[in-house]
Amino acid sequence: MSRRIIPLTDARSLPPLPTTARVRKPQRLVLDALERPLRDLRISVTDRCNFRCVYCMPRAVFDKDYPFLPHAALLTLEEIERLARLFVAQGVGKIRLTGGEPLLRKNIEFLIERLAALRTPDGEPLDLTLTTNGSLLTRKARALKDAGLTRVTVSLDALDDALFRRMNDADFAVSDVLDGIEAAQAVGLAPLKVNMVVKRGTNDQEIVPMARHFRNSGVTLRFIEYMDVGTSNGWNMTEVLPSADVVARIDAHYPLAPLEAHTAAETAQRWGYVDGAGEIGVISSVTRAFCGNCTRARLSTEGKLYLCLFASMGYDLRALVRNGATDEGISAAIAQIWEGRADRYSQLRGSAATTPSAAERRVEMSYIGG
Ligand code: GTP
Ligand code: 5AD
Ligand code: SF4
Ligand code: SF4
Repeated sequence: MSRRIIPLTDARSLPPLPTTARVRKPQRLVLDALERPLRDLRISVTDRCNFRCVYCMPRAVFDKDYPFLPHAALLTLEEIERLARLFVAQGVGKIRLTGGEPLLRKNIEFLIERLAALRTPDGEPLDLTLTTNGSLLTRKARALKDAGLTRVTVSLDALDDALFRRMNDADFAVSDVLDGIEAAQAVGLAPLKVNMVVKRGTNDQEIVPMARHFRNSGVTLRFIEYMDVGTSNGWNMTEVLPSADVVARIDAHYPLAPLEAHTAAETAQRWGYVDGAGEIGVISSVTRAFCGNCTRARLSTEGKLYLCLFASMGYDLRALVRNGATDEGISAAIAQIWEGRADRYSQLRGSAATTPSAAERRVEMSYIGG
């Protein structure tokens, strides 16, 4: 693969943000241009990871010279908490911490404690979760639970140890992750989900063994179609295995029946084992886009607000925070940015409108946290 360094900071200038403290009544429901409310916030707490998954941080690109964010660029944990509080006041009820690998961020438990104390305008606690590669979970599960984390999602792409090591390209063993999953279950981080990114020709032979392994375990296993996020993973449609095929392969061994969605905004379609052994999910961003109900905003490690996983630029909330903006000013900015949102990349995928030009590179998965 050719070596490309993708600038992490914006190559384009940002659209104007309100700089004055334009006071607005706190709103409970901010709708975007396609009438989608702001409900979920995914916060990336670090752009670093101890894995080098081939589909996310290929070693040829993310090597020792890769320009990861310097420490001063990161939002502090207090800044994250403040922004999260303002998002919650705008209607966000679910917060997911992501990375890179979120458990690499120092004092993450402190942030979780602060986020767990937040309440929605209706007085409800948040659905507070994180997506992790599981390598540090054995050590951290208890502290995360004690800090107030509700649940976790663990990524695991294979049960075959040699294949898993090839895919994470950092020599982590399957047993490290399975032990982490067990530790998380033991402390009651539930419901626990496992994410498997399926690459046709790489790990699709692991679909049925993974399903078999997690049946009757209380874990919800989810199969994710390999997505064209970022620009460094060399994505190719031929490596996408449609979710319909995943379901068919499992159904041939363990019959499945569709289940109702929990919420309209859910990324996964749910399927239950007919014999009562639990459920699986399929996330079909490529073959069955779910932009119509997308209520997710993403806050990058350096405080940029992205309106889509496939966006090429974000709005610099850190500048507002560090330039002394009031809570009202930042809230007004968030509402204004969300109201202008018309992103629906997956629905438009393949059309000319979504082909990134050299000047408009999409952000990397490890930067925006999936
Ligand atoms: P739950 O709250 O447990 O349902 O999790 P989630 O599916 O919202 O988040 P998770 O981090 O587990 O992501 C699962 C997969 O879905 C990852 O590959 C994400 O990149 C992908 N994903 C999450 N949100 C979006 C989205 O808004 N658009 C697209 N295209 N993919 C998404
Ligand atoms: N396509 C689909 N899923 C991906 N993930 C990382 N890169 C990709 C990709 N290109 C997954 C991770 C993690 C979640 C946040 O996103 O494995 O489970
Ligand atoms: Fe790290 Fe997750 Fe990306 Fe793998 S998919 S390199 S574990 S951030
Ligand atoms: Fe939301 Fe963008 Fe994903 Fe569509 S592609 S579901 S708009 S994040």
